[in-house]
Amino acid sequence: MPAAWRHGPGESCPGTNVFPGFIAFTILVLTSLLGSGCGAERKPLSTAPSDHAEPSESVDITAVQPPDESILAAPTTLGGPLRGLDAALLARFSAGQDDFEEEDTIDDGLGPVFNEASCATCHTSPTGGTTGRAETRFGRNTGGTFDPLTELGGSLLQDHAIGAVGSGVGSYTYVPEQVPSQANVTAQRITTPLFGLGLVDAVPDQAFLALARIEARFFPSTAGTPNLVTEIRTGATRVGRFGWKAQVPTLHQFSGDAYLNEMGVTNPEFPDENPPQGDQAALAHNPVPTLNDDGTDVDRFADFMTLLGPPPRGALNGRSYLGGAVFRQIGCANCHTPTLFTGPSPVRALSHRALQPFSDFLLHDMGTLGDGIVQGQANGRQMRTAPLWGLSARTVFLHDGRAHTPQAAIEAHAGQGAAARDRFARLGTFQRAALLAFLQTL
Ligand code: HEC
Ligand code: HEC
Repeated sequence: MPAAWRHGPGESCPGTNVFPGFIAFTILVLTSLLGSGCGAERKPLSTAPSDHAEPSESVDITAVQPPDESILAAPTTLGGPLRGLDAALLARFSAGQDDFEEEDTIDDGLGPVFNEASCATCHTSPTGGTTGRAETRFGRNTGGTFDPLTELGGSLLQDHAIGAVGSGVGSYTYVPEQVPSQANVTAQRITTPLFGLGLVDAVPDQAFLALARIEARFFPSTAGTPNLVTEIRTGATRVGRFGWKAQVPTLHQFSGDAYLNEMGVTNPEFPDENPPQGDQAALAHNPVPTLNDDGTDVDRFADFMTLLGPPPRGALNGRSYLGGAVFRQIGCANCHTPTLFTGPSPVRALSHRALQPFSDFLLHDMGTLGDGIVQGQANGRQMRTAPLWGLSARTVFLHDGRAHTPQAAIEAHAGQGAAARDRFARLGTFQRAALLAFLQTL
């Protein structure tokens, strides 16, 4: 057996299979193959920040064919839990999903300003997906220096408010935020689907750092860079991987961040209420000024997303198989990395697994396609490679939803994506159709 992908010396985790049959062209495997954690279930679900990747074995991470199904952990339907969860984990998935779908009220701490009253309002069809709902960010660029205009409510705009509170002289009316006149940068960002992100969470930082080095060495013109950001829970510097700018390092942190910034619900890692339009004085009327969530809800959202399965892959036929080869040939796979591997995880279904997100989760200079917003180390032109898994279930594409077909999304690639875009434009009708058919299998 070609043990291209296996555990470190002497290790064997029950239920974890080796990665069989791969082809020539090998690249260093990007996974943590050391460490323990197989099967041992403990809280929390997310992987610890300390990891130790050993880029020691070789595997073809650019192969576009699905590897052995048994290590993909994909459910049969979109929106289902990871395959192979035990009853206790399935119960955590369901409890998390209920909370994710639940609409919060003013008494729960919703607002004063917010975007929607539940996570699922934006992340649905099915739960965990996306409605394509866009939200607005703004800031001010002065001679190349970006100011998120925090004192005016930036960079994320909240387009809903709880309205009138109190009575008589103590009454106050909260209104939705608007883009202030001081802003000279505004950007729309659409909601991203969350399927399979527990696997992405479980990829060790070292794997992304190694991938960035490999890209710099082998494909310098399209090479990506990690967005190094702070993990609030530990204070550690981590590789950001979530959000359009890879601005958040973990699902748990994104849960707290979204709870505050999308819904106005304060929580342990995000304890400070969002002042409406940046106006601290307006918070004097906040109906629930105490900490809104003690962390229970944040943990549940993170549970749901951690255990949410990746999108199932469609079967390849002759045409789409050829399309996969075209995808590699014209350089799409340089950034849209087909295969990554998780490190050890307390959840067996997440431990030492292959995932096929078709993204390196690194930042690329996309030239004019960039959204102008600076977040963490991401400058205005840099965007995270958008994962392509689940593409067939989507109807709007690119960060601002400007594209309504995958082809339009490809044609909008600029900056480091321009050469692949041009090679796509030069493809013959048959090869182009094959590439587009391949994308529909993701
Ligand atoms: C108003 C719509 C809206 C609501 C409500 C909302 N989100 Fe999101 N979500 C978005 C958008 C837009 C993005 C992309 C954000 C960005 O990068 O700027 C996103 C991104 C994410 C991501 C990153 C996904 C990725 O592709 O990396 C996670 C995780 C997430 N949301 C979780 C949540 C959770 C948990 C809640 C509820 C507490 C929530 N969201 C509520 C719109 C929403
Ligand atoms: C230099 C890196 C790079 C290369 C090369 C590249 N892409 Fe992308 N791709 C990106 C980034 C970054 C985004 C997100 C851009 C944005 O929304 O602003 C993206 C977005 C997309 C999207 C939209 C996905 C979504 O969720 O909205 C599709 C489809 C896509 N790319 C397909 C391709 C194909 C096909 C090729 C080869 C012809 C290709 N890309 C080459 C970096 C790259």
